[in-house]
This record gives sequence, structure tokens and C-alpha cells, in this order.
Amino acid sequence: MCAYNITWSKNFRTGGLPITIHLTTEIAGLELANPTILAAGILGISGLTLKRVAKAGAGAIVTKSLGLKPRSGYKNPTVVQVDGGLVNAMGLPNPGIEHFSQEIKETKGIATPIIASIYAFSPKEFSIVAEKAIEIGADGLELNVSCPHAHKTGAEIGQDPRLVEAVVKEVKRIVEKPVFVKLTPNVADIARLAKAAEMGGADAITAINTVKAMVIDVETATPILHNKIGGLSGPAIKPIAVRCVYEIYSAISIPLIGCGGICNWRDAVEFLEAGASAVQIGTAIATKGPRIFKQISEGIKSFLVKKKLRSVREIVGTAHKK
Ligand code: SIN
Repeated sequence: MCAYNITWSKNFRTGGLPITIHLTTEIAGLELANPTILAAGILGISGLTLKRVAKAGAGAIVTKSLGLKPRSGYKNPTVVQVDGGLVNAMGLPNPGIEHFSQEIKETKGIATPIIASIYAFSPKEFSIVAEKAIEIGADGLELNVSCPHAHKTGAEIGQDPRLVEAVVKEVKRIVEKPVFVKLTPNVADIARLAKAAEMGGADAITAINTVKAMVIDVETATPILHNKIGGLSGPAIKPIAVRCVYEIYSAISIPLIGCGGICNWRDAVEFLEAGASAVQIGTAIATKGPRIFKQISEGIKSFLVKKKLRSVREIVGTAHKK
């Protein structure tokens, strides 16, 4: 596993004594070697790809969203490229939580925490999937209450603070491992949803999932995605995601994980300054490959050195002081 703690010698603040720069990050009891995390949905569907991302230097890994039963998802086309990102509507395809145990087994031996992204259609079903996810070896959970186009799950749950609180409560009743809640930006007041998740007992908030979007082929006047409506990810949504993290930070006291359009270390630092303790990377992997994790970690490390800081923690939320 790649850890990026370095000793920076001849530091003027310590009168020449070496100091250590810490990229290690703790989220709800999970120790991350660095603050970069694989976002749900990209490369998280098999043991082999999970391992590949771990070896590439991710501090933690989130799986593709998993449900109680296998699900084939929507018909093609499921992804379309647009200026500034991708619009996708896959329809939550996955082999079901029990079949995923084989994939988790294949990751044995890697020290990188594996977070199972899970979805369900009711608080009770969430708790069943959650229990199974922990049984098959997940180190933590991320509740997907934010998929912008699924029926009776995803954002249809995540837009209602009472339902969000109920889902988290039910899951926390059953599991002891850390529970993150991934929120949708497609609401008027995302901080309210974050507070509801915290009230339910969430250990961390992930903000944000994709922004509800659509693409039409002009010549034929035909919506391109088979599902017509999808979710926009990539650089185009980064300012929306940064704003959401900034708003949530002041409203809650549990850690926040930023997600949305992060392509380089500057983007990552922007999220940390807005209040995130770690960042998730998804769409950028399509163009930059898994090496992006190491590149971002190295960039954050150089930033800390330049600013004469010792740990990621020292950057978190600094934009709130301005
Ligand atoms: C999908 O599987 O369609 C995407 C899942 C999500 O946006 O949460």
C-alpha cells in the first residue's frame, strides 16, 4: 500500500530538525493512508479492479452500489460524454450483495479499507443489505440515497429528511462499522439532509452524487440515454459540489467527504478547504486512469510542504475563516 507520509528535513520552523508531513486521514475510525477515495460506480465492480485501485494508491475504495438482489440496469445507451463530464444512467446494475462476496474475497491481503456502497427500497431493506455487506467483509458502508434517476430508491429517499434519518437509524441499529451517507445535490437545502443523516447516527457524509441531467440528439430530437434522464458528473459539477460541502460543513459535526469533478490536486485541496476531510474521485479515472490517486496525493503533499503545514487536517475547513 502507498503511504505518503514524508519526513521533510531542514525545516526552518523546527530550527533544522526534520518534521513529518501526514497524509494519513481518519474518517469515522477508518485509517486511510491518504485522503483520496475511489468513488462508487467507477472500477468498483470486481475484486481485480478494486485491487488495482488499491495498488494505484487510493486511501480507500467504494464499490459499485449493491442491492439485495441482482439487477441488470437500464438498456444502452447508459453513458454519454458532454462538455465538462459524463451523463450516466446505468440503472444500478450489480450482481447482488451475496454474489459480491466473491469479489471482496479477492481483495484479501490489501490493507486499503473497502466501503460497500449499498442501495435499497426501504429502511428495513437497507438494514438487511447493510448486514450482509458487513458479513461479506466490507470495512464500512456508504448508503446511496442519491442516485438521481432510480425509482423508489436513491434520491427518492434522499430528498426526504425523515426518510434519510429513518434509513440511517435502521442501518446503525444493525451494524457497528462506519456508515457514510451519500447525498444528492438535487435538493433546495442539502445541509438539512446532512443534519437528518447525522441525527440518524451517520458517521460521515459524502457530498455529492451526480446532478440530474439530460442530453438530446438535436437532429433526431431523441433523448440519448435509454432512461432519458441521468446524472452529470465531472468537472462541470465541481463548483456545485464545493458549494454543497461548504454549506454542509457548518451544519454538522461528523466528517465530510467531498466528491464531484475532482481531476487534480488543486481540486482536492479546494474541497478540503471547503470542509471535506477526504475526497472521492470517479469520472477523472476515465481519462487519467488509476494513477490519478498517486498524482493527487503527491500534489497535496507538495502543497502542504509549500504552505509549511504538517497534516491534511490543517487545511480542512480553512475557507470558512475567510
Ligand atoms: C447508476 O447505476 O445508474 C448510477 C448510480 C448513482 O448515480 O448513484
